[in-house]
This record gives sequence, structure tokens and C-alpha cells, in this order.
Amino acid sequence: MLLTLAILTAVVSIHGVCAVPQTASVTNTALPTATAVVPGLNYLAREAGKLYFGTATDNSEFNETRYQHILNNYLHFGQITPENSMKWYATEPEPGVFNFTAANAIADLAFRNGMILRGHNCVWYDELPAWVTANNYNASELAYIVANHCGTLVGHYRGHVCNWDIINEPLNDNGTFRQDVFYDTLGESYIPIALRAARAADPNAKLYINDYNIEGVGVKSTALQNLIKQLQADDVPIDGVGFESHFIVGEVPTTLVENMQAYAALGLEFAITELDIRMELPETPELLEQQKTDFNTVIHACMSVPQCVGVTVWDWTDKFSWIPSSFPGYGAACPWSSDYVRKPAFDGIAIGFEGGTI
Ligand SMILES: *[C@@H]1O[C@H](CO)[C@@H](O)[C@H](O)[C@H]1NC(C)=O
Ligand SMILES: *[C@@H]1O[C@H](CO)[C@@H](O)[C@H](O)[C@H]1NC(C)=O
Ligand SMILES: *[C@@H]1O[C@H](CO)[C@@H](O)[C@H](O)[C@H]1NC(C)=O
Ligand SMILES: *[C@@H]1O[C@H](CO)[C@@H](O)[C@H](O)[C@H]1NC(C)=O
Repeated sequence: MLLTLAILTAVVSIHGVCAVPQTASVTNTALPTATAVVPGLNYLAREAGKLYFGTATDNSEFNETRYQHILNNYLHFGQITPENSMKWYATEPEPGVFNFTAANAIADLAFRNGMILRGHNCVWYDELPAWVTANNYNASELAYIVANHCGTLVGHYRGHVCNWDIINEPLNDNGTFRQDVFYDTLGESYIPIALRAARAADPNAKLYINDYNIEGVGVKSTALQNLIKQLQADDVPIDGVGFESHFIVGEVPTTLVENMQAYAALGLEFAITELDIRMELPETPELLEQQKTDFNTVIHACMSVPQCVGVTVWDWTDKFSWIPSSFPGYGAACPWSSDYVRKPAFDGIAIGFEGGTI
């Protein structure tokens, strides 16, 4: 097993900016148990030619030893995304006053474990500190604020973040631009302002637009493709698209692959960035089986298109999932249960990376 780990680590380190920072530490805390049948989901993803299987996490979850033990296992997770700690409210709580304490804890965790770090996010309408909206900035002021926020944030993690969600959720479900403080003040121009500032701050990071309800063919996905084409025509840096993929059991879009191929044709990479598949509670054996099939469908789609570089779940355990508080009556959306037991969904993911369907 040690030999396998060494090879895995060596392979990781040839991927340039998306390499792990060091040949760190898969040998540290979390060797697979003797009973493990599957070495781990990241192990399988990398064997399948993907860059990573990863998870969202955050400081508030670090209070449980058993959580830490699984989170730190590189065989399961080769990538992490801070769920909240890099958001604007956390990183620039007052104008021009930056605080990277919580975000650094996630970056340090990634570094220690040799995991790829995803930056999340620079510009988003939600979870903003009040000052961004309350001060009624004019266009030139807000343009400076956006550029300064993105430039400072991305610059702080220069060389440490592989891919950055620079623009988060810019579109309405009908494909129009979301009306928020940025769009209302700057129009579409806030998008190139943020992307250019990010590129200048870290020329090697892959810059993404991340959104939901763009995973299947439809008006919102078409609108995002049109935005990408416009950015490309204007010579604005854009490298990738994040498909959030917050799905409902039994309702995974049937056009995932066709949609991915449309993005691949634009010359972009993309990733599944926030995957979870919620069910109406209580959970039943039937729902858990359907969820297994649904996770497999998503992994299989990513496996079908080479430009799909990796998959991140929006937390791996139901214990810390955002779903129950945001979608009352729904839950059980993750591949591990709230007491850290692997669910059928885990097998659905593993089978998907092994090339199988259900
Ligand atoms: C850790 O924090 C979560 C809430 O974020 C709580 O549900 C859980 O009980 C805590 N665990 C311990 C061991 O304190
Ligand atoms: C920075 O953020 C940390 C973690 O959220 C917090 O504990 C600390 O008080 C903040 N520092 C300042 C100067 O506000
Ligand atoms: C925006 O506000 C600044 C003062 O903060 C002012 O100097 C500038 O002229 C204003 N720009 C416009 C277009 O009103
Ligand atoms: C699109 O959706 C937004 C947000 O729901 C709404 O404000 C807008 O009027 C809609 N536009 C059209 C053309 O339907």
C-alpha cells in the first residue's frame, strides 16, 4: 500500500498549478482500514484519470475526531473547498480590512494533506458584509472594490489555489443576469473586472464561473454558454465552469452529458463543484437505492467527458450538510450518513469511477 501511495503522490505532482503543493502526507493519519473494500473515492477518481474527488468542509466541522479522521484521508479526498471561510463576509468584513484567519485554516489543511484547494468565492450576491450594499457606491467606486477584493483574495492564495470560483451564481433561472448590487451598479462589466483582477493576482489559477441549474440542457445553461462566448470574444480570462449539482433524488437531469459536451466545445474545463442529492425525509431503503443510482449517474457523466476534471461533494457526511436548514423537510443528501457510515450512495460513486453504471 505504501508503494501505491507513493505512486499516487508522484502522479499528483505533475499537474502544474493544480498539483498538490507538496508530496505531502497521505501517509500521515489515515491509512485505510483493513476492512476497506474500496481504497477510497479520490483513489478511484485518480485511477480513472480525473484530478480529484473532493469535499467541502469548514472550521465549524473540525470539532469531531471521527470527522477529521475521514476528512484527512487522501485516499477519499484529494481536494477541498472551504464552504464559507473564503466568502466576502469572512475575508473582507470591513472596507479594505482583510481577515484570512478562517480561510488560512482550510488552506493549511489542504497543504498538510497534499490536497488540491479550490477557492470559493470572489463575487457573489449572497453572504456579503453589509457595507458592500449599504454604502450606495457609484460605479467607479464599486469597480475598485470588486477588483481590490478579488485581487487581494486571489493574491493571498497565489500558488496555493488550483481553481477559483471567481464569479458565483451570476444568472437567474430564466437566463437573465441576476440583479444584485454588482449588476445594478456595474452591469455585466463586474464580471470582466473580477476575472481580470484575479488573473493578474495569480496567473496560474484556473478561473471559473460557478452556478446551479446549468447542469442540464436548458435556458440557463444556454445563457451561461453565451456569456462564456462573449468573455472569450472580449479576451477576458475564463478557464472553467463549475456545475454546482445540488440535485433531488429521482430528479437528476437526463441531459448531463449532452450539456457537458456543449461546454467542452467552448474549449473550457469544468467540474462538479457542490454535489449533493437530497431526499424528502424520512429516508427509506428505496430512496437510498435511488440516491445510489443518481450519484452514479453524475459520476458516470463526468467520466464520459474528459474536460470534467473532478467532483466535489458539498460535504461528505449528512452530519454537516447545509440541506436540512436550507430545504426544510429534505436531507440525507451526502454519501456518508450523519454517523459517518458509508451509504449506498458511496457505492454508486465508487462504481461510477470504476466505469460502471447501475
Ligand atoms: C460539533 O459541532 C456540531 C455543530 O457544528 C455539533 O452538532 C456537534 O455535536 C459537535 N460535536 C462535538 C463532539 O462537540
Ligand atoms: C478574524 O477572523 C477570525 C476567525 O473568524 C476571528 O476569530 C477574528 O476575531 C477576526 N479578526 C479580527 C481582527 O476581526
Ligand atoms: C463616484 O464617487 C467618487 C467619490 O467617492 C467621486 O469622486 C466620483 O466622481 C464618482 N463617480 C461618478 C461617476 O459619479
Ligand atoms: C427572469 O427572472 C428574474 C428573477 O426571477 C425576474 O426578475 C425577471 O423579470 C425574469 N425575466 C424575464 C424576461 O422573464
